[in-house]
This record gives sequence, C-alpha cells and structure tokens, in this order.
Amino acid sequence: MSILIKNGRIITASDDYVADIFINGETVQAIGKNLNMPADEVIDASGKLVFPGGIDPHVHLSMPFMGTFSSDDYETGTRAALFGGTTTVIDFVLQTQGSSLKAALTDWQSRATGTAVGDYSFHMAVTDFNEETKKEIKTMIEEEGITSFKTFMAYKGALMIDDRQMIGLMNEVKANGGMVTTHATNGDIIDFLIAKHRSEGKLSPLYHYLSQPEVTEAEASARFTDFSDYTGCPGYIVHLTCEGALNAVRDSGKRNHKVFAETCIQYLILDASLYEKDFEGAKWVMSPPLREKKDQAALWAGINAGLLQVVATDHCPFMWEQKLMGKDDFSKIPNGHPAIENRMELLFSEGVNKGKISLNKYVEVSSTNSAKIFGMYPKKGTIGIGSDADIVIFDLNEKHKISADTHHMNVDYSGYEGWELTGKVKQVFLRGKKAIDNNQCLVKKGNGKFIKRNKVTGII
Ligand code: URP
Ligand code: ZN
Ligand code: ZN
Repeated sequence: MSILIKNGRIITASDDYVADIFINGETVQAIGKNLNMPADEVIDASGKLVFPGGIDPHVHLSMPFMGTFSSDDYETGTRAALFGGTTTVIDFVLQTQGSSLKAALTDWQSRATGTAVGDYSFHMAVTDFNEETKKEIKTMIEEEGITSFKTFMAYKGALMIDDRQMIGLMNEVKANGGMVTTHATNGDIIDFLIAKHRSEGKLSPLYHYLSQPEVTEAEASARFTDFSDYTGCPGYIVHLTCEGALNAVRDSGKRNHKVFAETCIQYLILDASLYEKDFEGAKWVMSPPLREKKDQAALWAGINAGLLQVVATDHCPFMWEQKLMGKDDFSKIPNGHPAIENRMELLFSEGVNKGKISLNKYVEVSSTNSAKIFGMYPKKGTIGIGSDADIVIFDLNEKHKISADTHHMNVDYSGYEGWELTGKVKQVFLRGKKAIDNNQCLVKKGNGKFIKRNKVTGII
C-alpha cells in the first residue's frame, strides 16, 4: 500500500516546511515538493500540520495496583492513544517481589500480545533487586530489547526499593548499556505522613496531597541524581511535578551530569485546588499529587530550558467505582488518572496555542525526545526517509470539547470534562496504515507491534 500526503506543513523537532510525503509499506520513502509518485491513495493536507506520531513513554495498561487493575487494557488504551495522535506507548512491567523479571515479562506479554491496537514497548520495573535479578538485566537488554529499568523510591511495602538495591541495579544496568528511571519521592516521609493523617482522622483526598509535600519529591530527586552521577548510570526521572525537584535536576547539570526528566500533561495545567472538592478530588488522586500554580510556571520554564525533555501522561485510569474503594480513607484510593487520549491535543491547545512552547518544542517533547532517550530513534519520533510512517495530520483551528461521553478510554469520567480545546487530530498513520480517519478507528485489536529498543547512552 502506498500513500502520498500532499502539501502538509511538516513539523519535526527541528524543521517547519511545506512538502509532500510518500509512504510505501511501513516507512516514509520520499519527502519533497511536488512529488508525483503514483500512489494507492493521495491525501490533501493543505493548511494542516503534519507531525510525527506521539510517543507516550509512561502508561499503565491492565496494571495490577492497590488491590485492583487499571481499567484500560492494551486494546482500549492503545486505541484511545491513536485517537489522540499517540502511535507508540511504553508501559511498565512490574516485577513481583520474590519472583523473577522473566516471569513478570511473560505475564505482561500475555496481556499485550495480539491485543494492542497501537505500537508499544516495555520498561521493566525492578521491585526486588538481588543476585538472581542481577543476572537477568543483560538478557532483558540484549535479548528482549528492554533497555530501561524503572524503580520506585516510594510505595513502601509494595514497590519501593532501598538505596542499596538502587546502587546495585545502577551498576549492573550501566555495565550493560541501559538506563534506570525512577518515581522519585521519599517513601519513608510519605509513609510517616499517611500514618499521621490517618491517626488524626484526616481521611479525605486532600490528605493524599498533604501527605506528599514538595520536599518529598525534591529530596528523592536530588538523591537519585547523585546516585546516577556516582555510578555513571544514565538516569531519567518520571512524572516530575515541582520546582524543588526541577532544581535538583538543574543542579546535577551544573556538575555536567545529565539526568533526563519527564513531566506529565496534568502537572502543567491542573493544580492542587482540585483536592478541595471533597471526594470528587479522588479523580485527581495520583502520585505525586498535583502541585501549585508556581510549579506549573516552573515546569513550562523547565521545558523551554531543556531541563525537562518529555511530556508524558502516567495514564493509569480507574473507574469511579474503583476510586470509591477509598471513600472513607484517601490511602485506599487507587492512584492515577486518565490522559492517554488527551495529551497531544491538550499540550497543543494549552502549550502551543497559548504561546508557552513552540511547534518544534511540541514535537520534541511529545515524540522525538522519547524516541531518542529510550532507543527508538530514528525509527520512531520523526518524519524522515526510512522512518516508520507514524504520522499525524492535525487541524490547528478546529475547536472541540473533552468529555467522558465521547472519549475512547475505558473510564467513566474525565479529569478534563468540558475543557474547550483548539486543534484536533484528523488522521493518524501507524507504520503506513491509516489508523484513524476523522474520529473513526480503522485498525483492529492485534495491529500493534512490540518495539524492541536499542541500548542507550544517556546522551541525546
Ligand atoms: O498515581 C500514579 N502515578 N499511579 C501510577 C503509578 C505510578 O506511580 O506511576
Ligand atoms: Zn510513579
Ligand atoms: Zn506511572
């Protein structure tokens, strides 16, 4: 199948020009003015933006967590991602403490293989680093194409590892060409504050927020950058939310040590006042929690200063009934919120349209940098000759509203209900196949492919 996209305004992380794109099979074969190759389908993209398919490197699909499972599976989650212009996601395999990485991978593969609609890859979350786990790191990198290892510095008693395990893991991952990523908050302080609030009968969602003050994130982020500096292991902080944590990343740069950092769309545009809505605040109970307006300003500045390379979602949806598990105790509310479908359009509308980031920066943080950091570039993350034809055609003027009544995620509310956006995904191509056409999904369950990733260096 061949496709010719005519006269679109092509935006990459570095360029902005009008040209035609010729796709043959799964890849881009030619880019130029007035291409006249014969094609099975010709699409007129005049007046539209044409940019690389989004990459969301932080999602949780069918994840067992806090006594339940996140409500999007690989089919509903990756399909919703495609509707929103995201063609590749990276999900987290969670090692069960006392068990192997391989066993966890087999478990995740059984849920994803033949189910995903869009492309996907895996990070491996190491929750129990020991002599046995250590032996598996090389195999994960060299045979499975899983080159990033996630750690949790919080969720004490469930997912958290201690500093000794962290150092051991970093040494091993560095030796084999991988990267360690982390949920950087101080699990002990959070555990202390949760217990304190519960003992005082302070049980509403507001106390989820008050149990994770900025210092818990700033401290753990600084500790992680020190570990990364000390071991030389490439590092990446997931879902960074606040000024204090950003300062830790900036400080590590002063020592010429680079730790990559990601924020998520919600931290840029929502704030902690939502926790004052009594139990409705449970919609935004996530970890770390939403922060203050001053943190939003710091994060936008951090993107433009190159301290934050990625805007992800941490998509981890739960039905309202699941959120009600914590009706009488904030510590039992499953943590997470849905955004996989909304990220690209929200970031365009709130970021590009409101003059906070440029179009090139938009592509960089929503797609290109993830591909580079996580070993998928230039197969993914750009529009170039030989790259996968993962392409979004976008109407920058169309207005629309977000609503749970019309979204495609398997969750019965939206954290952005009624938000009015300017800019809409019109068509999405995944490896040369038209996947989305004007609000219709044209590809089926099983269409998504697992993307094996290359070794990484920590330099992009
Ligand atoms: O609240 C969140 N973030 N839920 C998903 C798990 C995690 O910490 O990323
Ligand atoms: Zn996390
Ligand atoms: Zn997460």
